[in-house]
Amino acid sequence: MNRVLAIETSCDDTSVAVVNSAGEVLALNSQSQDDVHGPFGGIIPELACRNHTSRLIPLVEKTILDSGYNWDEIDGIAVTSHPGLLGSLLVGVTTAKSLAFLNSKPLIGINHLEGHLHAGFLKSKGYQPSSDSPYPFVGLCVSGGHTATYHVRKFGKYEILGKTIDDAAGEAFDKFGKILGFGYPAGAQIDRLAKIGNALAYDFPRPLLRPKTSLDFSFSGLKTAGSQLVQRLQLSESVKADLCASYQKAIVDVLITKLQRAVEKTEVKSVVITGGVACNSALRKEAQEWAAKSKVQLFIPPPQFCTDNAAMIGLVGIKRLLLGEKSDLKLSPQAFMKVGTIRGL
Ligand code: KG4
Ligand code: ZN
Repeated sequence: MNRVLAIETSCDDTSVAVVNSAGEVLALNSQSQDDVHGPFGGIIPELACRNHTSRLIPLVEKTILDSGYNWDEIDGIAVTSHPGLLGSLLVGVTTAKSLAFLNSKPLIGINHLEGHLHAGFLKSKGYQPSSDSPYPFVGLCVSGGHTATYHVRKFGKYEILGKTIDDAAGEAFDKFGKILGFGYPAGAQIDRLAKIGNALAYDFPRPLLRPKTSLDFSFSGLKTAGSQLVQRLQLSESVKADLCASYQKAIVDVLITKLQRAVEKTEVKSVVITGGVACNSALRKEAQEWAAKSKVQLFIPPPQFCTDNAAMIGLVGIKRLLLGEKSDLKLSPQAFMKVGTIRGL
């Protein structure tokens, strides 16, 4: 088992990768559908799966070509099978099953969150993780759909430490962006504007910092506070920049505080931050400063491995295939799972 082809279509990104057993990303092609969903202000599930259908096979062909290997040199196929949008998952799973069947390759269905938690250990020309053996670690998964911390004792052993009780952090960015009149998704735009704003200009709430032991997150009140404040202000560009910087700071403060608590509770020495919100420049900077101060080994992958991507699915896939696991051709996607119920994820 030297290398796998991986497919990720759980939401609105179509992504295909070839990854080897050392975690090296031999090829990765991801196509965002922001252009499709942006005008609607959110993801339209029917459009997401229709676009996966037209984009996936050409992306598979391109990725195999980019990897420099041919089908005979691909030893297995990994695909995100849960959780996600059912129609989107169906396109990836059905394509992966067909490819596995036609090419007589072993198939493995992978949990999307398990993929995110391992994104920090992928290797590419521009990124080398500081260790190959990071276990045990605390993983903070922050995206548009998820915000949770996990205690990862070893590969395959996950325990949820805290999760959002309402909105995900990415959702908090996107909803505030909508209030400010930005396109969808808004996280990157808020990040850009925040760079020229004053993070101390507005005092946004830091939800669920009390009680001091709480590891859960809550972001819906922050969005409401943002909405009420915006109604009272004249929105010039500089006011918007200050709002973005202050709002972003509140989210980053909460994430770092919860991470610190998770590390204290578990006494681990390594932390992974992953998911689309891990692209945020303020979070990356503050996390690095916090890790240096707290003597924690920090893994934050480059942005292309933080957002939804097939490389992270390939890494988990090859690890599982090497352990002798595989899925059969009855594999079917599962859209929802209660947090913490499948292998602790
Ligand atoms: O992981 P991801 O690509 O998809 C999900 O599984 O949700 O994450 C997308 C989320 C969106 O909410 C987007 O606004 C946010 O990640 N995001 C950011 C940044 N880049 C993407 N949030 C804050 N700052 C960024 N630079
Ligand atoms: Zn994701």
